[in-house]
Amino acid sequence: VAFVGRSNVGKSSLLNSIGGRKALARTSKHPGKTRDCVIFRVNGNLYLVDLPGYGYAQVSKGERARFARLIKDVLTERPRLVGVVWLLDIRRDPSDEDIVLGQRLMAHETPILVALTKTDKLSNAERKHRVALLQDSLSLPTDQIIVTSAVTKEGIDTLRDTIASVAQTR
Ligand code: GTP
Ligand code: MG
Repeated sequence: VAFVGRSNVGKSSLLNSIGGRKALARTSKHPGKTRDCVIFRVNGNLYLVDLPGYGYAQVSKGERARFARLIKDVLTERPRLVGVVWLLDIRRDPSDEDIVLGQRLMAHETPILVALTKTDKLSNAERKHRVALLQDSLSLPTDQIIVTSAVTKEGIDTLRDTIASVAQTR
């Protein structure tokens, strides 16, 4: 199961929360931290894949192209890819690159889960509003959208269970 999303959205942090460990995947407040495909075995035959993010202008053009190729390869050339967790910051509207990625993901048969990240940064009212807005714009069933926080651990158990059940049925 691969974790994809724009740089700094919280992929490595969420992966660590799922794995229940602090420092499985390297995280940083500076975007562009994860620079390669990193694979973690969580249990049995389930592997979680951390990837570089897209959309970070400070990364060199060459590196950005390499990241894009890496993301594309993982999403398209892995027969054993059973699911994708696509991360979106709950506070932000999807960027053009998010939308392109989303379209590419939906064109494949691989199941997608959307994790809305950094929910702890919003008040309850704001969060309700953002969830409704993003649900509307994503055109995915609501059970494929999980509200998460790597800080409060909200949604982590649900995400872990959903990943496990997707992996089991494939
Ligand atoms: P790249 O590897 O650069 O693509 O970034 P990433 O998507 O792996 O993000 P990472 O997990 O490194 O997190 C980026 C920053 O956001 C770090 O400073 C994290 O501590 C912070 N962060 C991640 N998840 C959360 C969250 O749920 N809540 C809050 N408040 N901060 C978060
Ligand atoms: Mg990372």
